[in-house]
Amino acid sequence: MSKVTVVGAGNVGATAANVMAIREVADEVVMIDIKEGVSEGKAMDMMQTANLLDMNTRINGVTNNYEATANSDVVVITSGIPRKPGMTREELIGVNAGIVKQVTESVLAHSPNAIIVCVSNPMDTMTYLIHKISGLPKNRIIGMGGALDSSRFKYYLSKAIDANPNEIEGFVIGGHGDTTMIPMKRFAAYRGVPVSTLVPAETLDKVAADTMVGGATLTKLLGTSAWYAPGAATAEVVEAILHDQKCMIPCSALLEGEYGEKDLCIGVPCILGKNGIEKIVELELNAEEKELFAKSAAAVRKTNAALPC
Ligand code: LAC
Repeated sequence: MSKVTVVGAGNVGATAANVMAIREVADEVVMIDIKEGVSEGKAMDMMQTANLLDMNTRINGVTNNYEATANSDVVVITSGIPRKPGMTREELIGVNAGIVKQVTESVLAHSPNAIIVCVSNPMDTMTYLIHKISGLPKNRIIGMGGALDSSRFKYYLSKAIDANPNEIEGFVIGGHGDTTMIPMKRFAAYRGVPVSTLVPAETLDKVAADTMVGGATLTKLLGTSAWYAPGAATAEVVEAILHDQKCMIPCSALLEGEYGEKDLCIGVPCILGKNGIEKIVELELNAEEKELFAKSAAAVRKTNAALPC
């Protein structure tokens, strides 16, 4: 029996729960929220799709009852306020740090062996905060931003070359911020063919720029932050863990010298499996990429410095 808890049944949390349930990532998914009735209602609504979708996952919703989350294998933390149009993810730190700290303590009290997937923004800093307050081994704390940013990169690449997004390879490293993420243009490929041989450099630059503001573009359109891709990216990360897939997914991980950085969480390619982050893949970056990574790390570190602890 595998069990996942999703803390926060807002748009992102509920979408993640729904995708995980439909894909049968776990036997049981528990959603927990502070708003009375929201998790219960969304869980009931999802369960009423079970026969329509031939879905066998059990979904439960609870209000503030952490006992119901006990013995989860994976806990996803989406709690906190989302950004409004014009806001950066970094501006959310004051409010969200307090919430994430409290949630982390509550979930670990009931699921001391869980792997934690952090979705709350500013995501790299919240992932780092979870490390600081929990003291868990680094393999058990994973920030999901790179999975989302990579999917957005592949979307924009597919549009630029008019191809099926499923035939595109691409990934994004660095911080999960409008100016800190690094779409890895050099490695982007269409069925193994480097995208750089298929489109002009300016097109690839535009794809990278659009990817970086992918979340902000949606926030402007929607009036709040996006949820379908963030939810599905979260489900992808949890699936890789629970199904021990050993997939390479860019995630925010605690670095201890990899990529020349330490004592911060930032997006790097990770092998995900049943132990969480089983390996950080160290790519040979070129001079330009190295410089971008160092700048991104400095920006993430600056945000970390604003943490109240
Ligand atoms: C986004 C938020 C969830 O990128 O960080 O859409």
